[in-house]
Amino acid sequence: MDTLIFLIGFMGSGKSTLGAKLARQIGYDFVDMDQLIEETAGMTVPGIFNELGEKVFRKWEHDIVLELSLRDNLVISTGGGAPCHSDLISIMNKNGTTVYIKLPPEALAKRLLHSKTERPLIKGKSEQELLDFIHLKLKERDSYYKQATHTVDGINLQTGSLISLLEERGRQV
Ligand code: S3P
Repeated sequence: MDTLIFLIGFMGSGKSTLGAKLARQIGYDFVDMDQLIEETAGMTVPGIFNELGEKVFRKWEHDIVLELSLRDNLVISTGGGAPCHSDLISIMNKNGTTVYIKLPPEALAKRLLHSKTERPLIKGKSEQELLDFIHLKLKERDSYYKQATHTVDGINLQTGSLISLLEERGRQV
């Protein structure tokens, strides 16, 4: 039985908050990929994008997914772009269970407008520009996100329903 759970989904879908809660409730460890990259690099995500470029950040995402794939009893909240390059969605699916937290563009925009986290890809965008960007990116990323083992509605999502879903589908948590 694999015991790795990858939460995937767009920026602002609540992966980190839900992931930390889920891990606590099922007694698994928790890793937030962006946070791990920041700690390892000694730089913030916006700093990495600005100073080293997105390509370097994506390479580190790749390396971290490979590294985390060797672990057990772990919930991982991935960066929004992580499953969408370097065949990472297949690697995640091969080594664990992926859960796509799906939200409509309008809900994502609302959350992102109020978020305190600095995100290089959406920095400085107006509300309309943000909404247009989300529509565009979701179109690009949809073919990756929909490869997830499970897709859940992210509106009012509680960890209890995530646990039931994982249990229902044969996972012991
Ligand atoms: C990104 C999402 C961010 C972070 C980086 C790039 C993306 O993570 O990895 O800014 O490409 O969607 P969150 O999804 O946690 O915001």
